[in-house]
Amino acid sequence: MSESIVSKEQTTDKDESAEAHGKCMLNRRKFLMYSGSTAAAASTVSITLFAGTAQAETRKASVQGYPRKLVARLSELKDHQPVNFNYPDDGKNSQAMIVKMGDVQAGGGVGAKRDVVAFSYMCTHQGGPLQNTYKHVGDQRVMGQCPLHLSTYDLRRHGIIVSGQAYQSLPQVLLEVEGDNVYAVGIMGLLFGRQDNLSA
Ligand code: FES
Repeated sequence: MSESIVSKEQTTDKDESAEAHGKCMLNRRKFLMYSGSTAAAASTVSITLFAGTAQAETRKASVQGYPRKLVARLSELKDHQPVNFNYPDDGKNSQAMIVKMGDVQAGGGVGAKRDVVAFSYMCTHQGGPLQNTYKHVGDQRVMGQCPLHLSTYDLRRHGIIVSGQAYQSLPQVLLEVEGDNVYAVGIMGLLFGRQDNLSA
């Protein structure tokens, strides 16, 4: 594994990164509440924006239409060992994983250290499988490279693309904690191969 798993273009100084990250998040918020026409349930989830920066802030987001699914127990998650699940159903392209990223805070992270996140396993470019590609080097936490065209995604920053052919962020599964239980309650972004996350 190379020392740096985030491309040079992405490792600008802190202020530039935060600014670029902010622009990305403003765009992403527009479809944060992406849902189908059947509003079956509504949850309110806390989203940490600009995690790890001076601009860090927490916002509440309403997630409608998605099932609330138990995907892990905090006490059973081990650092850097992804646990697989399917969400929002067991249909096409629903493979996802949840991982505790060794005390490195992430946007949308839950748990005491805000280091527990969940993402789709489907590359947004052409659906390449990202299973077994989670990596951690220093403070960097990524998924990739995709085996098809080498896309890599930054898991600290809502799955933004850091290198490769993809041009959309990796869909992030939104999480909610209740006691020791971690629930999936929504998805930020559109799963590869779907026109609606709630319709396989
Ligand atoms: S399918 Fe993953 S980079 Fe093309």
